[in-house]
Amino acid sequence: MARPDALTGPGGADPADRIDWVRDSCRLLGAIAAEFAQTRPFDGLTIGTGIHLEPKTVALLLTLTAGGATVVATGNLSSTQPAAVAYLRGHGVEVIGERTTDPAEHDRYLHQVLARQPDLLLDNGGDLFARYLAAPYAGLLGGTEETTSGRMRLRPLAGQLARPVLVINDSPIKQFAENEHAVGQSVLESYLRITNRMTNGRQVTVFGYGACGQGVAACFRNAYAQVAVVEVDPVTRLRASLDGFAVPGRAEALRRADVVVTVTGAESVVTGDDLGLLRDDVILVNAGHFPREIAVGSIAASALVASQTATADGITTFRLTDGRRIHLLTDGHMVNLSGPRPLGNSIESMDLGFALQSRCLEAVARRTVGPEHAVVPVPRPIDEAVATAYLGLYGQSG
Ligand SMILES: NC(=O)c1ccc[n+]([C@@H]2O[C@H](COP(=O)([O-])OP(=O)(O)OC[C@H]3O[C@@H](n4cnc5c(N)ncnc54)[C@H](O)[C@@H]3O)[C@@H](O)[C@H]2O)c1
Repeated sequence: MARPDALTGPGGADPADRIDWVRDSCRLLGAIAAEFAQTRPFDGLTIGTGIHLEPKTVALLLTLTAGGATVVATGNLSSTQPAAVAYLRGHGVEVIGERTTDPAEHDRYLHQVLARQPDLLLDNGGDLFARYLAAPYAGLLGGTEETTSGRMRLRPLAGQLARPVLVINDSPIKQFAENEHAVGQSVLESYLRITNRMTNGRQVTVFGYGACGQGVAACFRNAYAQVAVVEVDPVTRLRASLDGFAVPGRAEALRRADVVVTVTGAESVVTGDDLGLLRDDVILVNAGHFPREIAVGSIAASALVASQTATADGITTFRLTDGRRIHLLTDGHMVNLSGPRPLGNSIESMDLGFALQSRCLEAVARRTVGPEHAVVPVPRPIDEAVATAYLGLYGQSG
């Protein structure tokens, strides 16, 4: 059947085909959906969610409906993809609202989800559980929280929540599969896609050596770059050194870099004050959550900047008064989630994270976890079951 023009992508490709591709590629979710269709853990239950609505979350939400859930969903601020909304609605999911960048509108959508008094919440950033506590209703069994920031917000409220809330980000699987391997790969992929320049022999400086920085540094090294790490914590800096990376001082690391990647979670890691140190033709890339790791405003306002040009899709060039060119990718936003045709993290890494989500929600629905599991990491048996299933399904088990 022909789909509406508004949902047709570049070259006439249908975004719904990509969602089908993602769903077909999620082997864990596919197997869980087939199992849930038999076991029906969510029969009679409503699951409310406020999560990014994009192809991979479509695969997750439809796994839950396969288990009998009535799913009521809204997106996150600014990330909702119209094709994902249309696809979900076409598959019986109630989606509240549309893409919005207005926090007040987003807040209304979240309240509309809660007005349906879901039995389970699949939360992202603590938005739903925090609003639930402001206006509780009877019957909430508990749910899941996807992120670190949500855990930090909800942890002090654990006593008030007094029901299971399992934090997906605190699973070791999520840490190494997504934060390390998938972020590393997708940042490298984004750099290559946006710049179309080779990495071989290039000097790359990575700021931050947490899980994400470790993956980014390793992926650029595997792509034959010479990688240096700048890390404020001396113990983590030692780790980077023992992992074989150069750990020069900050100024030296900036002076030698052809490419600078920030992935720290901190603000103003690279600023206009650093322009004097940078080489001609350097490329600045941010992979951290906030678009403030590279202080774009202070660079643009520097007296050293003579002009600023949108050079190519996803690339802005600052020309300095002495002729040097400083390139910035995706305006300093997370490079793997912005710019031309952003794909985000690999399907397999999200398949793993969303398998954890599905199994955790199943545990809450079946009451195999209780109030003592208020804002705690994924229970170890679930981590083990998901790891074993992945190794079996992706054909990597002996
Ligand atoms: N791009 C993505 O898809 C993606 C995915 C997951 C997380 N993230 C984001 O990436 C960032 C890093 O995540 P993480 O899990 O590695 O965090 P982390 O806290 O484990 O590691 C951050 C590291 O940066 C170091 N650091 C802090 N300020 C610094 C500075 N000014 N200079 C040098 N080092 C500094 C810290 O000491 C720490 O070792 C966060 O903002 C996170 O939200 C991005």
